[in-house]
Amino acid sequence: MVESIVSDKKTIFSGMQPSGQISLGNYLGALKSWVNLQDEYNCIFCSVNLHSLTVRQNPELLRQNTKQLIALYIAAGLDPNKNLMFLQSDVYQHTQLSWILNCYTYFGELNRMTQFKEKSAKYEENINAGLFTYPVLMASDILLYKTNLVPVGEDQKQHLELARDIAIRFNKIYGETFIVPEPYIGKVGARIMGLLDPTKKMSKSDNNGNTIFLTDEPNIILNKVKRAVTDSDNQIRFDTINKPGISNLLSIYSSITQKTILESEEELKNKGYGDLKKIVAEVIIEEILPIQEKFKELCKNEDYINEILKQNAIKAQEIADKNLNEVYKKIGIK
Ligand code: TRP
Repeated sequence: MVESIVSDKKTIFSGMQPSGQISLGNYLGALKSWVNLQDEYNCIFCSVNLHSLTVRQNPELLRQNTKQLIALYIAAGLDPNKNLMFLQSDVYQHTQLSWILNCYTYFGELNRMTQFKEKSAKYEENINAGLFTYPVLMASDILLYKTNLVPVGEDQKQHLELARDIAIRFNKIYGETFIVPEPYIGKVGARIMGLLDPTKKMSKSDNNGNTIFLTDEPNIILNKVKRAVTDSDNQIRFDTINKPGISNLLSIYSSITQKTILESEEELKNKGYGDLKKIVAEVIIEEILPIQEKFKELCKNEDYINEILKQNAIKAQEIADKNLNEVYKKIGIK
């Protein structure tokens, strides 16, 4: 890693919250595509556990999910020797930079964030300040490592845009300091929708058959896919407006098999819905079974995970500290 940091590879940063379990949507939308980035870029994949605190968490579960997320990263194929993988809370510079960047972010900007509006509606009883400044911590995650590229889904684009605005603003006042990050546009992961409500993104906070979790047993997966909402015209074709359920099953299929939607449609168009569901369930199970096995192995070896986290956090701190000090000097703290 140290050698690659001095190389001219571009830096990619992304993170997932360890709140709840990882869904098939998280996997196909992000994790699976990250695996393809690890040779070409300096990749930093963080478990952003501080972001999770913006919503009430059960401490025991949070602790467990945080470690398990890293185990899943590894089980899914991210090499802990090639990528920096660590817990956000282990690198204190994230929150330090976050305070500073809070002072360069306007109330009005944060107030416009769609996710803040959505979450304040959803967690009406707990609209805390952390929920409001969430995007500033995210900007800090990104800017702290002079990140060039951020692979993010549609729902995080606005936050990335804000991170760019903050970087540009800071650079304007103090001279070139931060790299203005770009969204990573490449072979991005699929947007997987809920099985019971295919008009909304599959969310790991749903637990009613809408979401497949990476740790679901095969028979559970089969049952969830069997109960997925479809339509009544018995045609297998991709049409997200009129056929969101079938389109979602096709997205899942093509994303796992790495076939195009067109190829998948062609291959499956003569099947009945029952068969389609069976086929989709099978490819899901085939894809995630090896991940589950590796995951179970890794979970037995907590020392190994702890050691990886420790080593990677040390490497991350080194970069973070250097860049934070540069900021301190520019603004007059040092
Ligand atoms: N907000 C992101 C999400 O919920 C997670 C996240 C935190 C993130 N910091 C990040 C993603 C930095 C990319 C880069 O999906």
